[in-house]
Amino acid sequence: MSDDNSNEMSLFEAMYSCRAMRRLDTREVAEELLVKLVDAANQAPSGSNMQNARWIVVRDAEVKKKLADLNRIGVEAYIGPMVDNPGELPHQPVDKRRRMMHAVLWQMEHLHELPALIIACMEFGQKVDGAMAAAGSGSIWPGIQNLLLAARALGLGAAPTTLALGNPKAVAEALNLPDTMAAYCLIPVGYPLGKFGPVTRKPVSEIMRFDGWSD
Ligand SMILES: Cc1cc2nc3c(=O)[nH]c(=O)nc-3n(C[C@H](O)[C@H](O)[C@H](O)COP(=O)(O)O)c2cc1C
Repeated sequence: MSDDNSNEMSLFEAMYSCRAMRRLDTREVAEELLVKLVDAANQAPSGSNMQNARWIVVRDAEVKKKLADLNRIGVEAYIGPMVDNPGELPHQPVDKRRRMMHAVLWQMEHLHELPALIIACMEFGQKVDGAMAAAGSGSIWPGIQNLLLAARALGLGAAPTTLALGNPKAVAEALNLPDTMAAYCLIPVGYPLGKFGPVTRKPVSEIMRFDGWSD
């Protein structure tokens, strides 16, 4: 590790406050920081150490617009019908869920204006089929989480998103992907408009058992 990061937050502080930050400023993010995020992502493990993750940092207005249009299709189909009536989850009351939906809509309206959209991809070295793409997922998400934590530590907002990627052919066209690559996650990155705060998760007593599952 270089010693220039002494002012960065601790790993645990980052993990416990790494919320999906969807409302972002249009202020440019220095290229050096974008490279730093991808470098952090690139430290993650991969199955058989294949290191097939690839990262595309989109700053070009035209490409951002294409991805924003694809995201709009995904968001409108997925959350459009439930925006004002989102229901609730045992761990997320209706008002919080509604706020989340509105943040997703805000992101939909502004995606093309955000400073950088980072697309996490995998390169398979042969034409990708559905089974291959599914199997590849385990080797891309550790890097995505590294990137999210690095963004948090640097005071940058980011959120993992997948709704823009529902049409792989259109995504491949937008990003000039060869048929040996697949895209898994789109991460908008920028300076946050809102405040960082703690994540809200189920208590560990609910999700953990020792030695085997018990109710
Ligand atoms: C696999 C995956 C897909 C996701 N897709 C989207 C998405 O398409 N759009 C979006 O706004 N958020 C997306 N999210 C973010 C989740 O909604 C978010 O992590 C979750 O609501 C928890 O939010 P919090 O970390 O702020 O508590 C995705 C997260 C994951 C892990």
